[in-house]
Amino acid sequence: MLPRCAVGVCHVLMLVLCVSAAEDFDWTKNHHGSFYYGTFPAGFSWGAGGSAYQTEGAWDKDGKGLSIWDVFSHKKGKIQQNDTGDFSCEGYYKVKDDVSLMKELRLNHYRFSISWPRLLPTGIKSDHVNEKGIQYYDHLINHLLENKITPIVTLYHWDLPQVLQEKYGGWQNISMVNYFNEFANLCFERFGDRVKYWITFNNPWSVAVEGYETGEHAPGLRLRGTGAYRAAHHIIKAHAKVWHTYDTQWRGKQKGLVGIALSGEWGEPVDISNQKDIEAAERYVQFHLGWFATPIFHGDYPQVMKDFIGRKSVQQGLGTSRLPTFSPQEKSYIKGTCDFLGIGHFTTRYITQKNNPSGRSSSNYFSDRDLAELVDPRWPDPGSEWLYAVPWGFRRLLNFVKTQYGNPMIYVTENGVSEKMLCTELCDEWRIQYYKDYINEMLKAIKDGVNVKGYTAWSLLDKFEWDEGFSERFGLYYVDFRNKNKPRYPKASVQFYKRIISSNGFPNQREVENWRRKAVETCSSSNQLLAADPLTSHMEMVTEIVVPTVCTLSILLSAIFLMFLLRRRN
Ligand code: NOJ
Repeated sequence: MLPRCAVGVCHVLMLVLCVSAAEDFDWTKNHHGSFYYGTFPAGFSWGAGGSAYQTEGAWDKDGKGLSIWDVFSHKKGKIQQNDTGDFSCEGYYKVKDDVSLMKELRLNHYRFSISWPRLLPTGIKSDHVNEKGIQYYDHLINHLLENKITPIVTLYHWDLPQVLQEKYGGWQNISMVNYFNEFANLCFERFGDRVKYWITFNNPWSVAVEGYETGEHAPGLRLRGTGAYRAAHHIIKAHAKVWHTYDTQWRGKQKGLVGIALSGEWGEPVDISNQKDIEAAERYVQFHLGWFATPIFHGDYPQVMKDFIGRKSVQQGLGTSRLPTFSPQEKSYIKGTCDFLGIGHFTTRYITQKNNPSGRSSSNYFSDRDLAELVDPRWPDPGSEWLYAVPWGFRRLLNFVKTQYGNPMIYVTENGVSEKMLCTELCDEWRIQYYKDYINEMLKAIKDGVNVKGYTAWSLLDKFEWDEGFSERFGLYYVDFRNKNKPRYPKASVQFYKRIISSNGFPNQREVENWRRKAVETCSSSNQLLAADPLTSHMEMVTEIVVPTVCTLSILLSAIFLMFLLRRRN
């Protein structure tokens, strides 16, 4: 998520500048609006995803330990409506149902995460391994494989065991590196015969910035100016260690791949003729994606981060930079620890240069960058406040990855859009539009030579959206959270995404337009829930509607019959 306060207000300026700003690098010579009809390379992997805390529920069941998100969400005032992930989609109990939804979509892969405290309740392997937790993931993995769906497994999607937070301060402490490595090693040992795609961390930018700098996410710490850099430093070391563990101990027999999933939003200069804006936009991307990708591909932090944070630290009168340093040995140990790069991408910003004075109290990650983020008011923003649909930014980001990091193998690990709705809306035309345009920009990027091997729609289900609770829905499937059975209903985008998958791309304009029309026909705004495909898990729901109706009818009929009898007696 991007900070709300950072979204700019210079709309008038934007309206003038965004048109020229959009026409620069030669790999986007095509007009933005032009749609590219064509197919993806053979074997391209189509998927959808979710994560443990966002979907599983069963927060205190079968021996699971507490995570920092269990504790954080139970504190009043941290999450919209004080929602928690205690039950969420109850995915823990619905493996079979959910795998049938994936089959309906004809997915090639499913991306999910393993809850560390479900396997290791205290986070520490020597304390206790929870076999019930192992059984749950065994069941999920086996069921996916039986249905020919490849599991892509994330080891850390933000749910650190609470004990590790309380005892050591979580990612502020270097000891996490070894604890995480032991957890990862256990996963390789128990699941690695079947899992061939491992992601160490999901979106460490959020863990560092929102967990330790702004405090919007668990563990909710506000260690401004240092907390995020320190957390990131340990996360990068932990990632590298786990990659080496797999490389030396497991790769030979298991033959899998280990990568990391980074979030990368694109930053476009407000004024492409202004060198300062060009540099500011580059800085925006380097402070976000580059912060993690540059050490992993090149061995050290981006030069621009070292320069800016170092200079500002000196101005504050500090003896050393707030950005920690890697020793030469650490640099070579970290460099090259990525078999594939996961990219989570949702949106784009216009960026302009803005100097921030560096005072002791004002210095933080955001001000270190010396820039301002702006948006074009014409960009669609159907859901989350920070999420504007800007498809062309996706192609630019993918090309940036190609040129900066030596054209690595890429899996898009997250891409999608949310809605903020009070009432049920299954006719999600804006999501169809978003997927259509973003997937098309990815296709263009592949034609540019970017090595994208797979795409993960985010997300399969509506789910717990962190500090936004259940107020933002990213799912292809709608989940009725008010019903204790958490029934799932397909939104129109299910039909559309399914067609992209079965055609492995976009055949021609007429057909793609037909897909859209048909998808929207399958839902109707007046009778959305009942118009949706009936699924087994809906049965309960239907019963709840039917039973009162039958009851009411029986009472009415009995009353009429009684009146009829009474009349005859009179
Ligand atoms: C990125 C996070 O990894 C994911 O868990 C979340 O659902 C999306 N952002 C949308 O906010």
